[in-house]
Amino acid sequence: MCGIVGYVGRDRGQGSSVLDSVAPAVDQESADGQHGALDVVMEGLRRLEYRGYDSAGVAVITADGIESRKKAGKLTNLVEELAADPLPRSLTGIGHTRWATHGGPTDQNAHPHLADGGKLALIHNGIIENYAELKAELTGEGLTFLSDTDTEVAAGLVGYLYRGLVESGAQGDLLTLALQQACQRLHGAFTLLAIHQDQPGTVVAGRRNSPLVVGLGDGENFLGSDVSGFIDFTRRAVELGQDQIVTITPDDVTITDFFGAPAEGTEFHVSWDAAAAEKGGFESFMEKEIHDQPDAVGQTLLGRSDVSGRLVLDELRIDESILRSVDKIVVLACGTSAYAGQVAKYAIEHWCRIPTEVELSHEFRYRDPIVNEKTLVVAISQSGETMDTLMAVRYAREQGAKVVAICNTNGSTIPRESDAVLYTHAGPEIAVASTKAFLAQITAAYLLGLYLAQLRGNKFRDEIADVLADLAEIPAKIQAILDDAEKIKQLGADMANAKSVLFLGRHVGFPVAMEGALKLKELAYIHAEGFAAGELKHGPIALIEEGQPVVVVMPSPRARDSLHAKVVSNVQEIRARGAVTIVIAEEGDTSVAAYSEHVFYVPASPTLLAPLLTTVPLQIFALALASAKGYDVDQPRNLAKSVTVE
Ligand code: M6R
Repeated sequence: MCGIVGYVGRDRGQGSSVLDSVAPAVDQESADGQHGALDVVMEGLRRLEYRGYDSAGVAVITADGIESRKKAGKLTNLVEELAADPLPRSLTGIGHTRWATHGGPTDQNAHPHLADGGKLALIHNGIIENYAELKAELTGEGLTFLSDTDTEVAAGLVGYLYRGLVESGAQGDLLTLALQQACQRLHGAFTLLAIHQDQPGTVVAGRRNSPLVVGLGDGENFLGSDVSGFIDFTRRAVELGQDQIVTITPDDVTITDFFGAPAEGTEFHVSWDAAAAEKGGFESFMEKEIHDQPDAVGQTLLGRSDVSGRLVLDELRIDESILRSVDKIVVLACGTSAYAGQVAKYAIEHWCRIPTEVELSHEFRYRDPIVNEKTLVVAISQSGETMDTLMAVRYAREQGAKVVAICNTNGSTIPRESDAVLYTHAGPEIAVASTKAFLAQITAAYLLGLYLAQLRGNKFRDEIADVLADLAEIPAKIQAILDDAEKIKQLGADMANAKSVLFLGRHVGFPVAMEGALKLKELAYIHAEGFAAGELKHGPIALIEEGQPVVVVMPSPRARDSLHAKVVSNVQEIRARGAVTIVIAEEGDTSVAAYSEHVFYVPASPTLLAPLLTTVPLQIFALALASAKGYDVDQPRNLAKSVTVE
């Protein structure tokens, strides 16, 4: 939640002609390679807008002091504001896109917030839990506040401490000192970035339980909530630890703890390129990311077995003896990632014979769960920053469990705080509704399950090789679905007026049904619910009335335990009560046509791999329906991509 960018560059003298007012993606560099703070910050905000779009704002240091512009609503509003009221050229700046917590999405509550008589500007991601107490204290000292935000209190505190340092005759980098002192007093989760007009060429940041990465340039340095904040300018990045302060100048990056003791970050190379985070000719990021899925699965599988076909997960740096002694697996995740975990549960239990629970991260630690040294926790998170999951990971580790993160974002917090990480290689996912990350998460969780089965001797090598061979065929099968998507798109568009859509599935099709419903809720803002098909007769069938659309994820007719026949019976039961059925079936399953108003076929696959295919038409359906309603599918209302508050 909230996107944060910071920039400082060295003045390279003559020839610099950075634009005074910018629109996103305009010239980022003048003829001599000089970046302007505003250009860099606006480009970073454009890429980070998926983190929050309630308001946006920037502040730069100019020859006349701090200048700021901020506007409620999407980034385009700020771009218009900058066009109407341009900012002067600058080499030091910060920028923010907001997902509102304290205070509504107004101009006044937008960041940056100013303090120290307008000489200091500060932006913030997170929640400052003791802001009310601090506000009372600072008000008592004569400070006044204009907004309803906790951020303005943090700005006030840093400004107040800065002034105190000046008045006490302190020397040196007072902004860093003031931020260190402020962070010692703040409770909660925060990333703060501050600039002060008396220290041009410096941006100072502090973080606790909230994301921040540093980008390293040549005569310039960057800060971002994640690497997309500076991906256009550098691929060299530094991840920071908890409770750290970082001060960037054009030529230096200095890291300390909150008490000023020197600290270090870890440098890493960003493998994503900027083009991967562009729409690439598609109407929306979501559409593009749906089309990225063959690659996302393919890349996640890549390089994970040796020449003899043995699965090799080099990143899984947990002692093999510990993995052999695991007697329970707990998957922790939220939203779509939790549905990926639910799909994986079927496979992991089947392959490894280890009891596997899937739990929503925010429910987990508040119910005194039974977790110990023999528990393997698998934390699934696309962003690697979801606060609920991060807190659950910490709790699980405190209880002695080992934690493996399945994550899509290098340099993020959850992998760093886990014992090991299995990265998904889906590439940057920008659309708020998760698509390619879901398929990549299932793929990675399957690799983990197969690896455990290999290690513990639950499966023979050739059995594992067979599953890997089936997995290797999945990208081409997803592509085949994408190439033949016109019918499902049309149906989605035709159903733009639906008030409610139900989804049914069984076995691995059940979490797929819930994921299909979630996509529709978050994109089209209509009632949608996923049920286990077998549960229907225990209550939900009462929802069926004439014309009720029901999407059914049909198991393969080749699957064991006659699940297919049972779901066909469910379809008949709901049709008898007026439901309009939309069935996702396996190619060759001719029997379902007689019981469905609409059938969409996906290529045949082993039952456990079917979710990697059956999910795709549901994504396309939700995208088409929401687009037909005229909604912004990349930035659905009230949501943010990365949920960094509890
Ligand atoms: O980054 P994470 O995978 O931890 O995010 C978890 C959920 O917030 C996320 O999957 C959310 O449900 C998506 N918007 C769903 O499309």
